[in-house]
Amino acid sequence: MKLLVTGGAGYIGSVVTRLLLDAGHEVVILDDLRTGHAEALAPDATFAQVSLHDAATVLTPDSGFDGVLHFAGLISAGDSMTQPETYWDINMIGSLRLLDAARAAGVRRFVFSSTAAVYGNPAEIPIRESSLKSPTNTYGATKLAFDLALTSEAWGHGLAAVSLRYFNVAGAYLRPGVAIGERHDPETHLIPIALQVAAGKRDKLMLFGDDYPTPDGTCVRDYIHVEDLAQAHLLALDAAKPGEHRIYNLGNGSGFTNRQVVEVVAEVTGQPVPVEVAHRREGDPATLVASSDLAHAELGWTPTKPTLHDMVSDAWTFYREHTQ
Ligand SMILES: NC(=O)c1ccc[n+]([C@@H]2O[C@H](COP(=O)([O-])OP(=O)(O)OC[C@H]3O[C@@H](n4cnc5c(N)ncnc54)[C@H](O)[C@@H]3O)[C@@H](O)[C@H]2O)c1
Repeated sequence: MKLLVTGGAGYIGSVVTRLLLDAGHEVVILDDLRTGHAEALAPDATFAQVSLHDAATVLTPDSGFDGVLHFAGLISAGDSMTQPETYWDINMIGSLRLLDAARAAGVRRFVFSSTAAVYGNPAEIPIRESSLKSPTNTYGATKLAFDLALTSEAWGHGLAAVSLRYFNVAGAYLRPGVAIGERHDPETHLIPIALQVAAGKRDKLMLFGDDYPTPDGTCVRDYIHVEDLAQAHLLALDAAKPGEHRIYNLGNGSGFTNRQVVEVVAEVTGQPVPVEVAHRREGDPATLVASSDLAHAELGWTPTKPTLHDMVSDAWTFYREHTQ
């Protein structure tokens, strides 16, 4: 297939691009590099440095794209609470412009990076796709809004749409000559921050809240290896059916407290990871653990690197060799 990957210079989009190319697809990447990295771009893909709002300049009516995989967007729950207008503009309006362009270009398949943040403080654990959606931050609200837009697009125009709701993505893609890991700036994700502390680049790790109703009082999250996540996108692309919007949670179904993650980082790196406990952050749910039963049953998805140890170990290899 000829596929457009938005956000293909970012952490997850650049890994998925590699898998798509390996599977024999033709890939064009649309990314304005606002948070992505030119070095992460796959050399065998075509690159268009274009913003989501201008997607129609790439998705022209005669461009012949079969599908879009949409990763581009802003991803910080914290920033989304202080800059809501920017999050709505990029994650919602930008995504709608992309959808308009995809429709005009006759694109039949669309896979979207949604998030566990759409569920907010979950009413049940593990979280199912049918669980109540009640985001507690603007980031999650923008993602839920675009999920709903995709449902409408499937109803109204017969799009074959899939939303993949990722839980916490971790680890790295490591091959001879290629290493892709997390390099968000500013980094807000726990594992890369803990690795920076272990490497001596930060003095300490801030743990936001230790009075949650969890085993040690710190938040519980479900982690998924970026390679397992990437594989699910290829399965979703194949499983997409015209006129349907399918939604799948992607996680491992086991939760780790923030303190447990810090312990694994200390164990893998062999370095101390000092922590300081700070107040809870606004909008942070206590526990987010996925049920991915639907992805297993309908996509045939099986994670190959489900352990936190594997994820931290790959992330550490990437960190030591590529970000010092
Ligand atoms: N990383 C996670 O743990 C996680 C969890 C749940 C969902 N997601 C979702 O997955 C997607 C990818 O996340 P990531 O971690 O790879 O993020 P990332 O920041 O590494 O990549 C995002 C990419 O999108 C590009 N981009 C942003 N706004 C753009 C715009 N307006 N026009 C064109 N390009 C633009 C950036 O330059 C960057 O290359 C995001 O949509 C995110 O919400 C990520």
